[in-house]
Amino acid sequence: MKILHVDASSKFHQWSNSRALGRYFIEQLEQKGVDIEIDYLDVTEDVQPHVSAEFVQATYTPEAQRTDRMRDVLAESDALCQRVMAADALVCAMPMYNWTIPSTFKTFIDNIIRTNITYDLHADGSITGNLGDKKVLFITTRGADLSEGSPFANMDAMTPVLKNAFGFIGVENPWFVDAQPLQFSDEAAREAGLAKARGELDAVCGEWAQSLICAETTPV
Ligand SMILES: Cc1cc2nc3c(=O)[nH]c(=O)nc-3n(C[C@H](O)[C@H](O)[C@H](O)COP(=O)(O)O)c2cc1C
Repeated sequence: MKILHVDASSKFHQWSNSRALGRYFIEQLEQKGVDIEIDYLDVTEDVQPHVSAEFVQATYTPEAQRTDRMRDVLAESDALCQRVMAADALVCAMPMYNWTIPSTFKTFIDNIIRTNITYDLHADGSITGNLGDKKVLFITTRGADLSEGSPFANMDAMTPVLKNAFGFIGVENPWFVDAQPLQFSDEAAREAGLAKARGELDAVCGEWAQSLICAETTPV
C-alpha cells in the first residue's frame, strides 16, 4: 500500500502532536503487517507556490496549446498531482490555525485540484473526481474542544474545507480523527484528548488493514 503522508504543523517537530499522531498511525498499520511504502511530504518545508496569474492562465489553457513557459509554471503542481494519483491512500496530519487549515496545506490543495488530472470536467459542465479509489485520513489537532455541544463547535471551519475540497476530487468518505482540546484545557483533558485520538486511529487502522486483507483474498 502506497501512502502519501503529509505533515503540516509549523511547530518544531519534536513538540508537534499532529506529527506524533500521524507517525503513530503509520506504526500501527506496520504492526498489523500491512506492507507500506511511504511517500513523505512536509508542506511546511516543501512549501507549494501560491496560485499566481501565470498559474491561472496556464491551467485554463488546454494542454496541447500550452507554451513552454506555461508548462514550467505548472511543473511543480503536475508533479504533486502525480504523487497524489500514485498513492493508494493519503494520511494528512495538521493543526487547526485560526479555526481552519494551515495556509501551507491550503496551497497544497490549490496545487492538487487540477482539471484533467485529479478531476475531469465534462462537456455538459459536470465534474468527476479522480481520487475515488483512495483512502484518505485527516488527523487534526486543535487547541480548543470543537466537538459537538462545546461552546466552540460552530467555529470549525477546518472540517468543511477538507470535506469539500477533497469531495470535489472524488473523496466521498474521508476518515477524520480530531485530537482536542490540546491547548486550551488542563493536563487531564489534554491527555484524554490524545488518548481518544489514538483509540480512533487504532479503529481506522483496523478498518484499513481488514479491507486490504479482504482485497487480497477476494477472487477476481
Ligand atoms: C498560529 C496558531 C493558531 C492557532 N489557532 C487555533 C484555533 O483557531 N483554534 C484552536 O482550537 N487552536 C488553535 N491553535 C492551537 C493548535 O491548533 C493546537 O495547539 C494544536 O494541537 C497544534 O498541533 P501541533 O502540535 O501538531 O502543531 C493555534 C495554534 C497556532 C500556533
